[in-house]
Amino acid sequence: MIPLCVPNIDEKEMEMVREVLESGWVAHGPKNEQLERDFAEYIGTKHAITLNSCTSALQLAIQAQGLNGEIILPSFTFVASANSIVTAGCKPVFVDIDYDTCNIDPSKIEEKINDDTVGIMPVHYAGQSCEMDDIMDIAEKHHLVVIEDSAEAIGAEYGGKKTGSFGIGCFSFWATKNMTTGEGGMLTTDDDGLAEQVRTLRGHGISSTTWQRYKERRPWIREAILPGYNYRMSNILAAIGIVQLKKLDEMNEQRRKHAEYLNKRLDFEAIEIPVESKKCKHVYQMYTIKVKVDRAKFVLGLREKGIGASVHFDPPVHLNPYYMNLGYRKGDLPVTEKVSSSIVTLPMYPQLRREELDTIISSVEDVLSDVESKDP
Ligand SMILES: Cc1ncc(COP(=O)(O)O)c(C=O)c1O
Repeated sequence: MIPLCVPNIDEKEMEMVREVLESGWVAHGPKNEQLERDFAEYIGTKHAITLNSCTSALQLAIQAQGLNGEIILPSFTFVASANSIVTAGCKPVFVDIDYDTCNIDPSKIEEKINDDTVGIMPVHYAGQSCEMDDIMDIAEKHHLVVIEDSAEAIGAEYGGKKTGSFGIGCFSFWATKNMTTGEGGMLTTDDDGLAEQVRTLRGHGISSTTWQRYKERRPWIREAILPGYNYRMSNILAAIGIVQLKKLDEMNEQRRKHAEYLNKRLDFEAIEIPVESKKCKHVYQMYTIKVKVDRAKFVLGLREKGIGASVHFDPPVHLNPYYMNLGYRKGDLPVTEKVSSSIVTLPMYPQLRREELDTIISSVEDVLSDVESKDP
């Protein structure tokens, strides 16, 4: 069995977790501060704020700025991107994607901008940055906030700059991401005021953390200045994040090597391999192909052979029941819908061995000929 993804955890993470458990400080604490410093330096932003998920980061990015109106995003994404807009009190407005990269098509953004538009949420799909030059130009021209959903692109670059450093960056450390803490997220920004607001909202609207108060020896003073949440990451998970971040570049390099190997050998008429854009450094959080055969038969055929193939994402967000109730219909976003019905995710993680990559390739070949021979 070759699963879709396996987290890259070794002795170093175990040692760090043991150190935290033995320290007795298991909730949000000093490891969070260290991970925040390390991550901000890695991404190239002034602030990085640990959170319990990327969904929380996206929601707080909107709420902390008091945004109220429409936010433009692709529908070809995980539903959390749009959900965060709704839970933050704004309205998601979907724009179609570019067929090759599967990222939001900048040429289709301006036609959706009106007086109610307050922001753009580019989603860096599967490990590749959106066309950030075009998106930042549009945002500047129309005075819009940019919130990057970089859940799937930790370490990805556009024009030599890391994703999450263009607008407000939102990252996920969920189990299958480029680095993981099991559950977890991060928000990055250069804006001091926004960072302060996010930190406050993260911990019940209280402007200092328990760890800060403990260090100052006045742990009993807890003043809520906002009705906040508990969106904190624990010290235990932050400790895992510190080790994972140190390994991130190496893990991403492995992913890139595996993708290059697969790209060269998945040379079949019925398959389109992923496209890396000129200005981008793709970090292949997922390795996705488009197939011209019956997608369900293809995925099930691979799974029967022990290849953990899957689909990301179908249905696209606008065709989920909740979003259809907002008025979206089939046919509204033709490129998104075409990609959604043909996309397939193959296993991708740093530890994949050459023999396993070869097994994936030969299984794809076998299943393709099987499905093609049964097609009318
Ligand atoms: C594009 C995108 N946005 C948001 C999320 C949500 O991340 P989290 O599970 O950390 O809330 C995910 C995770 O799968 C994602 O892929």
